[in-house]
Amino acid sequence: MSKTILITGAAGFLGSHLCDRFIAQGFEVIGMDNFITGDHKNIKHLLAIPNFKLIEHDVTEFVNVQGHLDYILHFASPASPIDYLKIPIQTLKVGSLGTHNLLGLAKAKKARILIASTSEVYGDPLVHPQTEAYYGNVNTIGPRGVYDEAKRFQESITMAYHRFHGLETRIVRIFNTYGPRMRLNDGRVIPAFMGQALRGEDLTVFGDGTQTRSFCYVDDQIEGIYRLLFSDYAYPINIGNPHEISIKDFAEEIVKLTSTKQEIVYKPLPVDDPMQRQPDITLARKILNWEPKVSREDGMKKTFAYFKGLSKEELFKSEHKDFTNHIKR
Ligand SMILES: NC(=O)c1ccc[n+]([C@@H]2O[C@H](COP(=O)([O-])OP(=O)(O)OC[C@H]3O[C@@H](n4cnc5c(N)ncnc54)[C@H](O)[C@@H]3O)[C@@H](O)[C@H]2O)c1
Repeated sequence: MSKTILITGAAGFLGSHLCDRFIAQGFEVIGMDNFITGDHKNIKHLLAIPNFKLIEHDVTEFVNVQGHLDYILHFASPASPIDYLKIPIQTLKVGSLGTHNLLGLAKAKKARILIASTSEVYGDPLVHPQTEAYYGNVNTIGPRGVYDEAKRFQESITMAYHRFHGLETRIVRIFNTYGPRMRLNDGRVIPAFMGQALRGEDLTVFGDGTQTRSFCYVDDQIEGIYRLLFSDYAYPINIGNPHEISIKDFAEEIVKLTSTKQEIVYKPLPVDDPMQRQPDITLARKILNWEPKVSREDGMKKTFAYFKGLSKEELFKSEHKDFTNHIKR
């Protein structure tokens, strides 16, 4: 009999790629989403597939699913700074109440649960690169604290369910991941640069551009998550690409890739924007026998091809998410 997996955040960037992967592996996939930052377009191709089912639901409310479940992947959460600054309370709720609801469901169904944590748990790190043993440097009351602290709480409650109830849990600390189906206007640097290039605007670098990032292509990320789910490792594990680049150099790469004639312009750095981010993936190499395979050059080409395929209307919409319908007051 095929296994059943519930994927929350299924209409989002990573959730939709996870749905594709588990459908391809022959699983019965139940996608759950309230579409607050997700898009129907990301899962449209799955709706006609018999072993895919979509449930529209807000996971901060009680979650009930009929029948048995073997696995749960909890990926529902606003994930880009633009989103979680606009919907800070929903962000805190989905990481805390939402995670609690899903852990309860996992316990009731005797399912294994993997939760999506983030490199943001390291805050503006004082240790470089970041190993899983580093406890982080987070400003609890800064504007980004809503995301970082929700994710830190999420890790704590997950470990508590593991220790107290003996639940089978997995925690992935995801570092910047990119690829097709990212939202053009979600404020993350790759869609931001590519959108600006396609619209014929200057590329905006915040700060002096010496801050560094490392970008993991989505196929590599999904493979890491897949391996972690089927491993027997219950502690947090970093999945990301350790190849680091300064934002300034990255902007220059994008200028070359897109052949834009525009300039790179500099604006003040936002509050609590981390200066450095680089995963130490020693543990993932050892435990999951995993490391990223897709070069930045190839990944960026595929991502740019996706953005080039967007309609003019999508390209010029300033922000296509209206959160108001999704917010319960
Ligand atoms: N993309 C990255 O680089 C990255 C990095 C670190 C962590 N993550 C984590 O991975 C997960 C997915 O991120 P993403 O980039 O795909 O973001 P995304 O915004 O594309 O997807 C998140 C999905 O969750 C849904 N959602 C949000 N709140 C919900 C709720 N209360 N109930 C039901 N559905 C809800 C949204 O509608 C959306 O479809 C998040 O938990 C995020 O924190 C992503």
